[in-house]
Amino acid sequence: MYFTLAHLALAATPLLVSAAFEKYQTIDGFGISGTFQRANLIFNLQQPKQREVLDLLFNTTTGAGFSIVRNVIGSTPNSNSDYMNTILPKCPSTPVEVTTNYSGYIWDGKDSGQVFLSQSAQEYGVKAFYANAWSAPGCMKTNKQDTNGEQLCGVSTSCRSGDWKQAYANYLVAYIKFYASVGVKYASMQSSGTQAAEFIKVLRPTLDRANLTSVGINCCEATGWSVATQHASQIASAGAEPLIYAITSHEYSSRISGTMHNNARVWQTKYSDLNGGWGTPWYSNSGTGDGFTWANTVFNGVDRATNNNNNEKLILIEGQTYQVSKQLWAFAQFRIVRPGAVRVDASTTGGGAIIKAGAFANADGSKVLNE
Ligand SMILES: *[C@@H]1O[C@H](CO)[C@@H](O)[C@H](O)[C@H]1NC(C)=O
Ligand SMILES: *[C@@H]1O[C@H](CO)[C@@H](O)[C@H](O)[C@H]1NC(C)=O
Ligand SMILES: *[C@@H]1O[C@H](CO)[C@@H](O)[C@H](O)[C@H]1NC(C)=O
Repeated sequence: MYFTLAHLALAATPLLVSAAFEKYQTIDGFGISGTFQRANLIFNLQQPKQREVLDLLFNTTTGAGFSIVRNVIGSTPNSNSDYMNTILPKCPSTPVEVTTNYSGYIWDGKDSGQVFLSQSAQEYGVKAFYANAWSAPGCMKTNKQDTNGEQLCGVSTSCRSGDWKQAYANYLVAYIKFYASVGVKYASMQSSGTQAAEFIKVLRPTLDRANLTSVGINCCEATGWSVATQHASQIASAGAEPLIYAITSHEYSSRISGTMHNNARVWQTKYSDLNGGWGTPWYSNSGTGDGFTWANTVFNGVDRATNNNNNEKLILIEGQTYQVSKQLWAFAQFRIVRPGAVRVDASTTGGGAIIKAGAFANADGSKVLNE
């Protein structure tokens, strides 16, 4: 089937945008993150500004209509500076005590504003919450710190204190249960580490035993597309591919450059050009951090693929004021593409290479096109 969705004239060349029903990937959604305590900035805003900012993020008619919230599972003992604190600020000396119901967890009910952001998103109908572990608490690792890489004790390496794989899996389940206690249900969680498959084999059964069968495991927040592609094949060779939901990748070390061939979903979970100051333009000649660049970034990703006042944020909140960047509106172009949509073929003829067209079939039967 082949039909024309829009026909417009651009300069002298007629432009034809068309979509055909060749099906590509299913879209789980588009998301935001309020990590590094940025969720607190929204929490601390007074009305009506708080509602305005939430509308900008989640409203499907007046805002960007985001459908995924990515939270970070803190790993530091406190939340000084921008740190995200762990629910296990003091570890017992051996892993065996760290059960899912261990009494030493400290849940402050706020999680640096992420509970508020998640609950608010839920009011707008967001169903996908993605908890992202950047590190295990230091006491579970070979270097005894949550920073500077190294391994979870027990993953291809042994520690005098024991094998912490099961304890860490229990800890992650406990974190999900704290969220469940405030009404937020996770759809996904993340594992990281070079020997991720070994840990995933412990985590999956631990989630299942806790009746968290609907919580998927995403892996491994690679720094870039090439690394993520390697992770995907390592996980497949280790036989862990059926245990994961999605392969996750950033785009810092390499950009999305092709289709990743594996059976799991693929999520692009983080990127910033880390370049230039805060600004709100749609288009600037330098082509960094403007709305147009980000419309292209999202388009390319779909089609194939800390404060410092920098340009990586969509909304800048300072005390009781906020400013909106055109980057937010770049994402808003995709708000018509709802979770569960399938991308279908779209192409343009004429108009030079200026216009890009993407077409999607939403799960409710509506067909949408963005240009
Ligand atoms: C805590 O969990 C362990 C196993 O994970 C179980 O043996 C123990 O009975 C539980 N304790 C409580 C108080 O539920
Ligand atoms: C989205 O914004 C519209 C227009 O202001 C409003 O009527 C609607 O209630 C908002 N949706 C939600 C879920 O708050
Ligand atoms: C899981 O669900 C089953 C059936 O509803 C129930 O019997 C069991 O106690 C639950 N287990 C946990 C750990 O919540």
